[in-house]
Amino acid sequence: MTIRICLAGATGWAGSALARGIAQAADLELVAAVSRSQAGRSLGEALGEPALAAPIFASAAEALAVGCDVFFEYTKPGVAKANILAALARGAHVVVGTSGLSDEDYAEIEAAAIQAGRGVLAVGNFAITVVLLQKFAEMAARYIPHWEIIDYASATKRDAPSGTVRELAYRLGQVGDSQLAVPLDEVQGEAGTRGARMNGAQVHSVRLPGYVIGVEAIFGLPDQKLVLRHEAGSSAQPYVDGALLAIRRVASFSGLRRGLDTVLEL
Ligand SMILES: NC(=O)c1ccc[n+]([C@@H]2O[C@H](COP(=O)([O-])OP(=O)(O)OC[C@H]3O[C@@H](n4cnc5c(N)ncnc54)[C@H](OP(=O)(O)O)[C@@H]3O)[C@@H](O)[C@H]2O)c1
Repeated sequence: MTIRICLAGATGWAGSALARGIAQAADLELVAAVSRSQAGRSLGEALGEPALAAPIFASAAEALAVGCDVFFEYTKPGVAKANILAALARGAHVVVGTSGLSDEDYAEIEAAAIQAGRGVLAVGNFAITVVLLQKFAEMAARYIPHWEIIDYASATKRDAPSGTVRELAYRLGQVGDSQLAVPLDEVQGEAGTRGARMNGAQVHSVRLPGYVIGVEAIFGLPDQKLVLRHEAGSSAQPYVDGALLAIRRVASFSGLRRGLDTVLEL
């Protein structure tokens, strides 16, 4: 059976690579796309890819009226939650690639997904190398009670930390809180330099030209440390295969799942 997809953000850096990936997949069909600047055109015209005949709409609400099995959110944090809730209300399953949604946003989304009896699969990073880093970090956190996370991205990335780091902090928080030798309220000097406390971990975001996107999870014990580091290049290709897998698996459950590994056997 073909899975009918509505892709919000189909003309963007990540969305256009995914749209081309969908065009190559015999079991997937892109039926509607969302982009304000390209509304009224076909995606094929906008991307120069004749295999993509889907019409482009200015809003998710208009695109969802076409009818789809899976809504894929790849726009911006400011509109993502409303798009996801609209898709659930229309009876679609949802894959979320957009970063920047908070744990509170996800609590609301989870309640809506349960009520709708649909699946929402939120993945901060679809790259298999990041999926593995998250898994390895969870394993490390079970044995090493002290960790901090560093988030690296380009100077122009507005949301901080990245979706990858939010997800990593959330998942490590499920294992436990990272222990601090010096409590934050006893720090002398500039306490802000110790980073932000998220899900029981210190998180530090670096935003500089020269970086694309990366993450470091550092685990420390007396006289030894473990550093798990991931870096991605500038193409959106690493995210395509994981996103296609998420589309194929999201209808297999209802409610919210965070992380691609929740639908993989690792
Ligand atoms: N999970 C992952 O593995 C992964 C990988 C890459 C990126 N991301 C995340 O995905 C999101 C998109 O990243 P990107 O680099 O592809 O961004 P981008 O190149 O700026 O593309 C954004 C897309 O969303 C559309 N859009 C933006 N605002 C909109 C609105 N209000 N209504 C409708 N459409 C809107 C844009 O088209 P118009 O401007 O024409 O509306 C464009 O198609 C970001 O949050 C990024 O962090 C996640």
